[in-house]
Amino acid sequence: MCGIVGYAGPRRAVPVLLEGLKRLEYRGYDSAGIAIGDEGRLAVVKRVGKIAVLRNAVPKELPGSWGIGHTRWATHGGVTEANAHPHLDSSGKVAVVHNGIIENYRALRNMLEREGVCFASETDSEVIPHLVARYYEGDLEQAVKAALSHLEGTYGIAVVHADEPGRIIGARNGSPLVVGVGSGEMFLASDVTAMIAHTKQVVYLSDGEVVAIDPSGFRTTDRDDRPVAKKVDEVAWELGSIEKGDFACYMEKEIFEQPESVARALGGRLESAEATAKLGGLNLDRRQLRQVGRVRVIAAGTSWHAGLVGAQLLESMARIPASAELASELRYRNPVVEKDSLWFAVSQSGETADTLYALREIQRKGGTVLGICNVVGSTIARESDGGIYVHSGPEIAVASTKAFTSQLAAFYLFTLLMARMRDLSHAEGAHFSAALAGVPGKIAETLRCRDLVQALAKKYARSENFLFLGRGLMYPIALEGALKLKEISYAHAEGCAAGEIKHGPIALVAPEVPSIFLVPDDELREKTISNMREIKARGGPVIAVGVEGDAEVAAIADDFVPTPRMDPRFYPFTMVVPLQLFAYFVALELGRDIDQPRNLAKSVTVE
Ligand code: F6R
Repeated sequence: MCGIVGYAGPRRAVPVLLEGLKRLEYRGYDSAGIAIGDEGRLAVVKRVGKIAVLRNAVPKELPGSWGIGHTRWATHGGVTEANAHPHLDSSGKVAVVHNGIIENYRALRNMLEREGVCFASETDSEVIPHLVARYYEGDLEQAVKAALSHLEGTYGIAVVHADEPGRIIGARNGSPLVVGVGSGEMFLASDVTAMIAHTKQVVYLSDGEVVAIDPSGFRTTDRDDRPVAKKVDEVAWELGSIEKGDFACYMEKEIFEQPESVARALGGRLESAEATAKLGGLNLDRRQLRQVGRVRVIAAGTSWHAGLVGAQLLESMARIPASAELASELRYRNPVVEKDSLWFAVSQSGETADTLYALREIQRKGGTVLGICNVVGSTIARESDGGIYVHSGPEIAVASTKAFTSQLAAFYLFTLLMARMRDLSHAEGAHFSAALAGVPGKIAETLRCRDLVQALAKKYARSENFLFLGRGLMYPIALEGALKLKEISYAHAEGCAAGEIKHGPIALVAPEVPSIFLVPDDELREKTISNMREIKARGGPVIAVGVEGDAEVAAIADDFVPTPRMDPRFYPFTMVVPLQLFAYFVALELGRDIDQPRNLAKSVTVE
């Protein structure tokens, strides 16, 4: 979704801002712009399309050592240059970039229009520079604070004034904003990736906070001007982790990183002597954990699929009733928040509005919510009552891959911890723990199917409809396979519980509709094989992702992708990998924009 970057320092601001915007591209956007301050005026350049288009439009050697930039993902008003940010006040002296949605913008616009203000765009955001100008009396920070008192909704903003060289005012309410502390220079961004090339020292703003930066430093206050002390954090990852290296795109890189990212998620968290897991961030003691009567997971998209696996595993192994629900649905149905329920909000970005608002709703009703997040310092990570960071490293491709397997790792660790406090014996715990420790190696073995999956993708890439089928732990994996394929190839794909096909989806079966079956050697194998035969009997082509050496499944299927044999509880980690690769290679075959698929954004901060 939208991205913000700001710079104040001794360098020319244009290259710093354009590079920052380039690094924010992965979030998804449709237009971009910058405002650069120099000698009492602001130069604003905006373009529809990619950053490269903006870069070409910016005059070579444009001077100015402070400014702000933005990538826009349209919500209010079409994808036009006028609607792109930065937005200006009528004098052209105040420029604002804004992430989020101003809910009362209609009323504010009417008020400002009655006062004679002419608007240049259809956006909600444009009310902000006009409000700032309305209150400006030589102090931008105070004018921004006065303007904020009118705003209802969510915002992360960066504001500059032509007459205040080197100053940028930022404010946050529901949309992330991070300050980057350099040496004699300062940065402001919605996401640390925009400034990691320059500094690893960052300050995460909280809702209700305002920051004023200039090249010498920063000052944080609340909206009523009371000082707020902030801690400077160090970003734990390196610039290399947000570069593609030798891979054609980020998605491919991230799929192949999974042996390391899952190893990181598990790192130091398995306690072999006690055959259990150690999860320091839960903020719950043993007694509180033992009192948990039910686990409920809320999430969206891929993170929800991880939650579905986690819930099944918890229920079967730790014998705790567990379920996973779409956050966007839960929030508005007035859920019962039982006293003994423990909730998990799962989110790679930690900023997904649906999940965040559901989390707040549960907390409001007295529930304890733990976060399973990747992005350190993200809103969900900070607002939850405790949690598990998955440490995947930055995930840049819009389609989530490595975060998914790391989220699974978090659930497997938590299940081990809970199961060992209940009925699981030391011997069973040790067996589970050893198998979990072996998962990164098994993913690495699975990745050897790359060429085979690429050949299958070439064979089936022109199909317009696909079915993904699995039972038990493989049902969420079927959902995930279908989601991956539709997101990046735009083919229609449905994930179904294999046992459900006879209740409807089997009507779709035809020679031109491939069915992709997940067939582990678990207790449901025979049932899944029967479902495969039902499809074959109706002329549907079948691709089976199965276990190496399973001659029966290989013989029934038209195509067979073997994966390494393992304890059946762990197949979600490996069997998802051929599906990720399949989606990737089909999209490659069709010439899609794999890392930034149409209409999608990496972090979905609107409902
Ligand atoms: C799928 C995908 C989305 C996200 C969903 C939740 O590849 O990326 O479905 O999983 O938008 O995002 P997070 O995990 O950031 O809350």
